[in-house]
Amino acid sequence: MDQTWLDPTDRSDQTEPGSLDPSDWPALRKLGHRMLDDMFDHLERRRTQPVWQKLPDASRKALHVPLPQTPTGAADVYETFRTHVVPYSVGNTHPGFMGWVHGGGTPLGMLAEMLAGGLNANLGGRDHAPIEIEREVIRWSAELLGLPAETSGLVVTGTSTANLIGVLAARRAALGPGVRRHGTNAARLVAYTSDRAHGCISRAMDIAGLGTQALRLVPVDTDHRMDLLALSDLIARDTAAGFKPFLIVGTAGTVDIGAIDDLNLIAHMARHAGAWFHVDGAFGAMAALSPHLRPLLAGIERADSVAFDFHKWMQVPYDAGCVLVRDPDRHLATFAQDAAYLKRTARGLAGGDPWPCDLGPELSRGFRALKVWMTWKVFGTERLGAMVEQSCEVAQALANRVDREPTLERAAPVALNIVCFRIRGMDEHDTQDIVANVQESGEAAPSTTVIDGRLTIRCALVNHRTRPEDANRTLNAILHAATRCPVPGGVKLR
Ligand SMILES: Cc1ncc(COP(=O)(O)O)c(C=O)c1O
Repeated sequence: MDQTWLDPTDRSDQTEPGSLDPSDWPALRKLGHRMLDDMFDHLERRRTQPVWQKLPDASRKALHVPLPQTPTGAADVYETFRTHVVPYSVGNTHPGFMGWVHGGGTPLGMLAEMLAGGLNANLGGRDHAPIEIEREVIRWSAELLGLPAETSGLVVTGTSTANLIGVLAARRAALGPGVRRHGTNAARLVAYTSDRAHGCISRAMDIAGLGTQALRLVPVDTDHRMDLLALSDLIARDTAAGFKPFLIVGTAGTVDIGAIDDLNLIAHMARHAGAWFHVDGAFGAMAALSPHLRPLLAGIERADSVAFDFHKWMQVPYDAGCVLVRDPDRHLATFAQDAAYLKRTARGLAGGDPWPCDLGPELSRGFRALKVWMTWKVFGTERLGAMVEQSCEVAQALANRVDREPTLERAAPVALNIVCFRIRGMDEHDTQDIVANVQESGEAAPSTTVIDGRLTIRCALVNHRTRPEDANRTLNAILHAATRCPVPGGVKLR
C-alpha cells in the first residue's frame, strides 16, 4: 500500500487547538510513568497494607465537588485519586480478601487495560485486529470447556450479562423470530434452576419479559446440587398444566458454597424436555483450567450456552465475563439487526461480518478481550490451572482447621474454594458484628451468606495471592473478634 503521505518527522498535530492531547507531552509522559510506578509499588506492597478501610468523611467530602467547569492540572487530579481513592478501594487485590467472589487482578492485567485504553478501539463491529483478539478468546474458551470449534460468543461485563444473553437466546429458540417483534405475547414459557442459583438468573427472566415467577426454583440435595427427581416432577407437572419448559439452568459453582450440579444428567433431561441447557459457571467454570478439577464439570461441554467470568478465578481485572453459545446461527438470530448506518460491506473497514454487536445487546464495546488474551498468553492454562488448584488447597486447609476448632462448626461441604462456618452459640446479629469488626480491623475480609436458613460466615478463596497463612490469619481474626463479642456469656475461646 502506498504510504508516501506519512511523514515521520511531522509533529504539527501536537498542539491542535481544540484537541485534548497534551500541549506538554513530556510532562504527561512523566506523570504517566509516575502513576505506573506508584501503582506497581502499591501492588507490590499490598500485603503490608490493610485489606480494607472505610472511606473517611474527609475523603468522601474531598471527592464531592461541584461539576468541574474549568481545567485542573492532571497532577492535582492524580493526587486526589492517590490520596482519597487508592487506600479506600474494595480490597480484593489483598491476599486477605475472602468476601463474596472477587478476583485479585494482576499487574499484567493492569498494563493490558492501559494498552486497551490507548488504542480506544470500539469492538461493536467493523474489520480490525482487536475483534480478532476477542474471537481468539472465544475460541480458546470454547476449547477449554469442550464446546465445538464453531461456538459463538462475546466478552461481556460479567456473568449477569452473560446469563441474560443465554436466557434471551433460549427464549428466541423457543418462540422463533416472532418474539423479537411481538414480545413473548403471554407464551407460557417456564425455566428451571436450583434454589441455590445466583439471583441474576431470576433478574434475567425479569428483563427478558418472562417474569420471575416463570423461573421454577428446584430444591437441592445435601451437597447443594439440584435435586433431579424434583426437577423431573416439576417439568412433568408444568407440561401437564400447559406450560412450555424452555430452559434449564445448571450451576457450575453455586455462589454460596461452590456446588456443581450434575451437568451431564441435566443436559440429558433438557434434551428430553426440548429445553435449552444453559450453565452458569461464573467462577466454577474456571475449574476447567486444572486437569485435576476439570472432571467435576463433566457435561458442561453439552450446554447450549455457558456464562462465566474471567474477572473472578482467572484474575483478569474487572470487568470481563463471557458468554458462549453453541449454535452460532441461533446466537446471531437472537440479536442481529439491520440498520443503514451499520451496513456491512465486502471490502474496507465495514467488512468483517458478523460483528460483535450482532451477538449481544451492546453496540459500542471496549477492548476487554485484550486483558483476557494477555493473561491467557502470558500465564498459560497450566499456570492458571495450578493457581486454581492452589485456591482449592487453601480452602481445604482452612476447612480442616475449622473442623479442629471446638468453637466453630462447618455449615457446608467444601466443593471447590469456599468454606462456610459458624461460631457455635453465636446469634445472627453478633455473627454479623464479628464479620464487620474483622473487616474494619483491616486484617481480613470474609463475608456472610445464609445456609439452611441461618447466617453463616463465608470465606471464598479466589485471590491468587492467598496462601494458607492468610486463611489462618483470617480465622484467627474471626476467633479474636468472637472473644470480644459483647454478648453476656459469649463464646469462650482458648
Ligand atoms: C454463580 C454466580 N452467578 C452469577 C454471578 C454474577 O456474576 P457477575 O458479578 O460477574 O455479574 C456470580 C457472582 O458472584 C456467581 O457467583
